[in-house]
Amino acid sequence: KKVVLAYSGGLDTSVIAKWLQETYNCEVVTFTADLGQGEEVEPARAKAKAMGIKEIYIEDLREEFVRDYVFPMFRANTIYEGEYLLGTSIARPLIAKRLVEIANETGADAISHGATGKGNDQVRFELGAYALKPGIKVIAPWREWDLNSREKLMTYCEQHNIPVDYAKQKTKSPYSMDANLLHISYEGGILEDPWQEAEEGMWRWSVSPEAAPDTPTYVTLTYKQGDVVAIDGVDMSPATVLEHLNKVGGANGIGRLDIVENRYVGMKSRGCYETPGGTILLKAHRAIESLTLDREVAHLKDAMMPRYAEMIYNGYWWSPERQMLQTAIDESQQVVNGEVRVKLYKGNVSIAGRRSDDSLFDDKIATFEDDAGAYNQQDAEGFIKLNALRMRIAAGKGRKLR
Ligand code: ARG
Ligand code: SIN
Repeated sequence: KKVVLAYSGGLDTSVIAKWLQETYNCEVVTFTADLGQGEEVEPARAKAKAMGIKEIYIEDLREEFVRDYVFPMFRANTIYEGEYLLGTSIARPLIAKRLVEIANETGADAISHGATGKGNDQVRFELGAYALKPGIKVIAPWREWDLNSREKLMTYCEQHNIPVDYAKQKTKSPYSMDANLLHISYEGGILEDPWQEAEEGMWRWSVSPEAAPDTPTYVTLTYKQGDVVAIDGVDMSPATVLEHLNKVGGANGIGRLDIVENRYVGMKSRGCYETPGGTILLKAHRAIESLTLDREVAHLKDAMMPRYAEMIYNGYWWSPERQMLQTAIDESQQVVNGEVRVKLYKGNVSIAGRRSDDSLFDDKIATFEDDAGAYNQQDAEGFIKLNALRMRIAAGKGRKLR
């Protein structure tokens, strides 16, 4: 009996580690990942050791996260319900994969996580784990135990000698938060009233647009097959790209979001998000595609995108349907090469320029000046008449339009 726990090193998952040992009398393996949340992961080692845990995994997954999850998602210009850039959703499949791999390495038969029974995260972790290891067992303490308040959690800590940093607990944010290189999220607290505006002090990654500099910042992104490979002419790894864009985006008040979203389990939930780099990436990727993609390919991508976003939000990254769409999306990106120049100013990202060796833009045809016969305007007459044919027939037969 052995279980691999997705362990943040925080209080909740520390309680879970102890509770698993007690309740299931099993060995616990902890897994802590650096996904760019901006908190040290190494302290998790000492905490786990103190609870008698022998197998401790601590990994820096930042490059893998951006290269194999964030970037593929951005190739599709993905947004959920027109707003959410899926910062939490896209990190879960990687964690699920590592949980399963570590279970295989350590001979564990179960995995465990700290997501509640009300949310999306439980679904994402567990769908992923089942898809990758069909016989895996899942232990979700929040669905089983009755430690459903801060107070009960604290009492449990006292009874089981789990060290609590009370000073830290006091200054603890009133929000349920999740952060990685793509975003930071805030839920709960006063946000549970959808009419209540988020307080300025809540936001951690960006200045408000009002407080942003009065002069714009220009950034040039170099694209290769749909991914950013350099910024302002300097080659950068995927994680470095996001880190850099988060910095300049945040400094210009970019990427704040306040939404009510539909969770997969059926409830509406209010969340605030900061996704500075992702907001820039989304806008810039559309710009480079606007130059390089065939119209029908671009429109088909746009038609599929909401379904693709739903798959990621609902936890179906590790599914045949997501893989099928990914193959089509990736295929479309062969020609998505070139440069985009963006202007960042007081919460806005605008496109200042785009250029590409794979551009389909033909200035000889598009020009408002003399095109020297490149385009025959007379062709348009028949084009329009034939397109109108079915409507003319209907109108001729007396069909009325409202
Ligand atoms: N509502 C967002 C989502 O479902 C964010 C979830 C945040 N998760 C968390 N454990 N705080 O993707
Ligand atoms: C949770 O319930 O653990 C966080 C919110 C979510 O997963 O949607």
